[in-house]
Amino acid sequence: MMEQDMQQILFTQEEVATRIRELAAEISRDYAGKAPLVVGVLRGCFVFMADLVRCLELPLTLDFMSASSYGAGTVSSGLVDIRLDLHDDIAGRDVLLVEDILDTGNTLSKLVAELKSRGPASLKLCVLLDKPERRTANIQADYVGFTIPDAFVVGCGLDFDQKYRQLPYIGILKPSVYE
Ligand code: PRP
Repeated sequence: MMEQDMQQILFTQEEVATRIRELAAEISRDYAGKAPLVVGVLRGCFVFMADLVRCLELPLTLDFMSASSYGAGTVSSGLVDIRLDLHDDIAGRDVLLVEDILDTGNTLSKLVAELKSRGPASLKLCVLLDKPERRTANIQADYVGFTIPDAFVVGCGLDFDQKYRQLPYIGILKPSVYE
């Protein structure tokens, strides 16, 4: 599917599914006896989060938010521009933040600071992809699906110009597509 636009398939649908099952097993062990609030950061989270939560053996609840650290227009919190906020208070909750990719860390570090200020019992970060070469903010994920090189990746929620999010694999986009 849209494979003609890919330079390389980095992780196949099967490899992604296997890794998500492993991550879910680890998270289920770590949170045993707890009822975490799994928070997805839209839009990129939607595929990974759906796959992950269906493998978690925990009495979890879900919520979503959307944020941007760019555009200094309406900075509601002073930390990050929250475009869509959580439905419920997270004070005292064990929050697991789920994202498709940790890249520079600019957005997520501010989002984590904002959520911590709300007094959760715990806050951990789970990402499908980690691109450490690009990091500028001081942040790391507690759970990482795959560590990847600095390449333009799409699929499993990740987009280029809002396209390719639905691809069931992680692919590196051909430069001719975005240049
Ligand atoms: C992407 C991704 C992360 C962020 C990572 O979101 O989903 O939220 O960028 O980049 P960073 O580590 O450099 O902050 P994007 O803003 O593209 O929105 P999207 O989720 O709608 O794709």
